[in-house]
Amino acid sequence: MSEKVYIFDTTLRDGEQVPGCKLNATEKLELALKLEALGVDIIEAGFPVSSPGDFDSVSQIAKVIKNATVCGLSRAVQKDIEVAGQALKFAKRSRIHTGIGTSDFHIKSKFNSNREDILERAIQCVKWARNFTNDVEFYAEDAGGYCLPYQYGEKIAYLINNVPNVDKAILSCHCHNDLGLATANSIAGVISGARQIECTINGLGERAGNTALEEVVMILQSHKDLGFYTSVDAKQLNPLSREVSDIMRMPVQPNKAIVGANAFSHSSGIHQDGFLKDAQTYEIINPEVVGAGESKIVLTARSGRSALAHRFQKIGYQFNRNDIDFLYEKFLQVADRKKEVDESDLQMLAQAYTPELATN
Ligand code: KIV
Ligand code: ZN
Repeated sequence: MSEKVYIFDTTLRDGEQVPGCKLNATEKLELALKLEALGVDIIEAGFPVSSPGDFDSVSQIAKVIKNATVCGLSRAVQKDIEVAGQALKFAKRSRIHTGIGTSDFHIKSKFNSNREDILERAIQCVKWARNFTNDVEFYAEDAGGYCLPYQYGEKIAYLINNVPNVDKAILSCHCHNDLGLATANSIAGVISGARQIECTINGLGERAGNTALEEVVMILQSHKDLGFYTSVDAKQLNPLSREVSDIMRMPVQPNKAIVGANAFSHSSGIHQDGFLKDAQTYEIINPEVVGAGESKIVLTARSGRSALAHRFQKIGYQFNRNDIDFLYEKFLQVADRKKEVDESDLQMLAQAYTPELATN
């Protein structure tokens, strides 16, 4: 039997912290409803004490979201927690996310303090939060430092093996992508016993971003052997990725896994030939499963004859092997001049062609 991994979406909080990605209350509410429809378990709606606008956003979201838990961030500060509690007052299910920097580095540099004091503050903030909701999540900021996946997994395993009553809590992975390892670390955490991943649509988030929601969801769905599932409806991943990108005015890199424009495009002859014989040779996910529409065969100077014949066929030209051999040479002349050969180029090549040209 597979086990559930909870998806904690923080697009509206960590994602929205990205310079240029700030949203107004209406936009945040619209996205919160889409995230709920996507099937995430927890929506981190904002950081209520940070501004009156964010307080209002969180309380509006708390009023309308019915299935997901609505979460508000706070520092280990009584005022933050009280304000978060107020903002979440009308939520059907609310969570306060509170915590503090716990690495030796943060303890010294940020707080000029010591472990005993930080431990006391940590316990205190959870107690304050419990006055508002039974669902409290504690973050031990920087506890992972800049881990490699096996180190991150070991940390989670250490907690599972050493913390009394740990089975009463859900351990969560909150990773940033400073070394491009956010997704790998989150998956390593889950393999070692964590059951929640904190992530964002398109991997948006502070600095190099957070763990990308679409990546972890599809890793767990593709690797059934791991024995996990999420409640996310994968078909909505691409449409929602585009909406988030548009509303936040933050383009998605074309080579981004799952939601990038090139994620299901094939442009080199070797790949195109294999793909056209059997899509699974170069696609581990059917693009329709993640709402990405059809795969694309892109024509460039690196493309091959099968791809050219395929693209001609798509616009209604059925050429035989001889025709294609001839047309391919003409195609390469165009392709060497252009980045991509498009439909109008193909029309031009096809219309200029007569079979006598190939035989002469
Ligand atoms: O990256 C971080 O440290 C955070 C915490 C505030 C949860 O987002
Ligand atoms: Zn973060």
